Amino acid sequence: MFDLKKLFFIIKNEVNNVNNLKELDEIRIKYLGRKGIFSEYIKKIKYLSDTEKRNYGLDINKIKKKTILKINSKKDELNNFFLNKRIKEEKIDVSLPGRHVNNGSFHPINQSIICIKHFFDKLGFQSVNGFEIEDEYHNFDALNIPKNHPARNTHDTFWFDNNRLLRTQTSSMQIRLMKEKKPPIKSIFPGKVYRNDYDATHTPMFHQVEGLIVNKKINFSNLKWIIYNFLYYFFNKKVSIRFRPSYFPFTVLSAEVDIMNKNGKWLEILGCGMVHPLVFKKVNIDSDIYSGCAFGIGVERITMLRYGISDIRSFFENDIKFLKQFKYI
Ligand code: DAH
Repeated sequence: MFDLKKLFFIIKNEVNNVNNLKELDEIRIKYLGRKGIFSEYIKKIKYLSDTEKRNYGLDINKIKKKTILKINSKKDELNNFFLNKRIKEEKIDVSLPGRHVNNGSFHPINQSIICIKHFFDKLGFQSVNGFEIEDEYHNFDALNIPKNHPARNTHDTFWFDNNRLLRTQTSSMQIRLMKEKKPPIKSIFPGKVYRNDYDATHTPMFHQVEGLIVNKKINFSNLKWIIYNFLYYFFNKKVSIRFRPSYFPFTVLSAEVDIMNKNGKWLEILGCGMVHPLVFKKVNIDSDIYSGCAFGIGVERITMLRYGISDIRSFFENDIKFLKQFKYI
C-alpha cells in the first residue's frame, strides 16, 4: 500500500536540496505536521489487517524517526553554515591598529605672536586687539594716506562698500588708540590684515604686529634699540640687520628693516619710523610736546626666517605634518 522506501528517498532528496531554514520548516510541516503525510499514512492504517497494521505501523514510525533525524541534521547544518557566514562577515580584526586621533599643534604663527607679545610685555607694552573690518578713515585717511595717494595702490584693498574694508595694515590701530588714550603710550597691536595678493611670498590674509610708543622726547634711537633687541630675542641669536631709509605716509623719518638670511641676502621684515606730525594732529596730540615712534612687523616673514620656510602658503594649508615640526618654544 505504501512505498515507504520511496517516500524516504523523496524526503531525503527534498531535504538535501533545501538551502534555507524556512523551506526546511515547510518540508517538516508537509511530512511531520498534524495534517502531514505521516499522519495521513497513520490514519490509513486502520483499513489494514492486524498483521499489516503492525508491520506498517512499525515501518512508518521508523521512517518518521529517520525523517526527523534527517531534518534535524539538515537544520544543524544550515544553522552552522549561516553562523559561520555571519562570523566571517562580521569579523573584527583585533590586530588592526586603532584609528589614530591626531592632536592639533600650536601654529608657528601663533608661536611667533606669543613670543613677540612676551618680549614687549617685559618692556611694559600693553597688547591691544583691534577690528579686522575697518573704515577708510582709520585705515588710510587718518594715517595721512588720502584718496589718490600712490601708497593706497600698493595695498590691493578688499572693499565692502565705499567706506568699509578689510584692514590692510594694523597701523589703523594707532589712530584708534591715540584717539582714546593720551600719552604716554606703549602698545602693540597684533592681528590679521588682508590684501588681495597671492604667491609664494604673499597670502590674502597675513599677520602683523604693530607697535607704538608716544611720550615726551621719544627719538629714533629708542626705536632702533627696541627693534635690535626684539630681533635678537626673537631669533635667539645675533642677527645682521640694517635700517634702510624708506617712505611711509604716516612716519617721517621712515625706515625699513632688513635682515640677512643664511644665503647672505637682505630680506625686508618690518617698516618703522617716527610718527608724522600730521597723524598726531588727527588725534589731537600736540607734536610740539610729544613725539612717537612706530613699527609694523610682518609675522609670517620673520617666522619663515626663523624656521627656514620658503613658501608662505604652507602656513595656511593645515598640513598637520608640516605644523607639527614646530615645537612650542
Ligand atoms: N603698515 C605698514 C605696512 O603694512 C608697516 C609700517 C611701516 C608700520 C611703518 C608702521 C610704520 O608702524 O611706522 O606696510
